[in-house]
Amino acid sequence: MLKAMLDWQAAMGADEAILDVPVDRHVQATRPKPDPAAAPPPPAAAPSPTLPLSDAADPVQQARQMAAAADDLAGLQAALAAYEHCDLKKGARNLVFADGHPEARVMIIGEAPGRDEDLRGRPFVGRAGQLLDRMFAAIGLARDAKEAAAALYITNILPWRPPQNRDPDPAEIAMLRPFTERHVALAAPDLLVLMGNISCQALLGRRGITRLRGNWTEALGCPVLPMFHPAYLLRNPRAKGEAWRDLLSLQARLRATA
Ligand code: URA
Repeated sequence: MLKAMLDWQAAMGADEAILDVPVDRHVQATRPKPDPAAAPPPPAAAPSPTLPLSDAADPVQQARQMAAAADDLAGLQAALAAYEHCDLKKGARNLVFADGHPEARVMIIGEAPGRDEDLRGRPFVGRAGQLLDRMFAAIGLARDAKEAAAALYITNILPWRPPQNRDPDPAEIAMLRPFTERHVALAAPDLLVLMGNISCQALLGRRGITRLRGNWTEALGCPVLPMFHPAYLLRNPRAKGEAWRDLLSLQARLRATA
């Protein structure tokens, strides 16, 4: 890409000020203008130079390539660890990849690690995570269940904690989405649960969890249930009734497709 940028600048004349031989512009200015009738036709305009981004320089393209090359979950985790385009990585203590049973029927996708998750390198282990565990235990699902049928597999859209737990920006979501797509393809769950607005934004292209929650939809070839994020439920305990209805809907769907 650097070479393409250099060619572009040269084509625009950026190097004319640094020619090897000095140019007397006064002489040039007084030189008689050539007779246009005698002049040869001007050369066809050169195609305007494009600035191709090489694969290595385009964060999304490189994420796609690295994610696609991962044959299994360990390979995907290693690919994420080797991915250098996301600045969140610099401020994070740990890569938070996933937790639970990789063959679980239900895969939960949250937003991003918080302080506790960043410290421990596991998703949903703080207060919101403890509530998440209690919620799913109420319908017989747990991340540490031995049986895949009773287990959960848990990850986040972002594997690194954003500073001050700020929302991820669209560029961060875009560059990490190929990893999430591959993560879902490799884990191949029966059902996806998207926790809160950020994961809905990343995978459904929509926000507005109050309207989205409880309505089954589809993403990445998988049935998807958007739900309130447990951190939201901690702040708004009255919404727990709706979360409970969503859990029952999840349980019914699991039973219907067992
Ligand atoms: N919130 C999330 O979305 N994910 C975590 O891992 C922790 C809190």
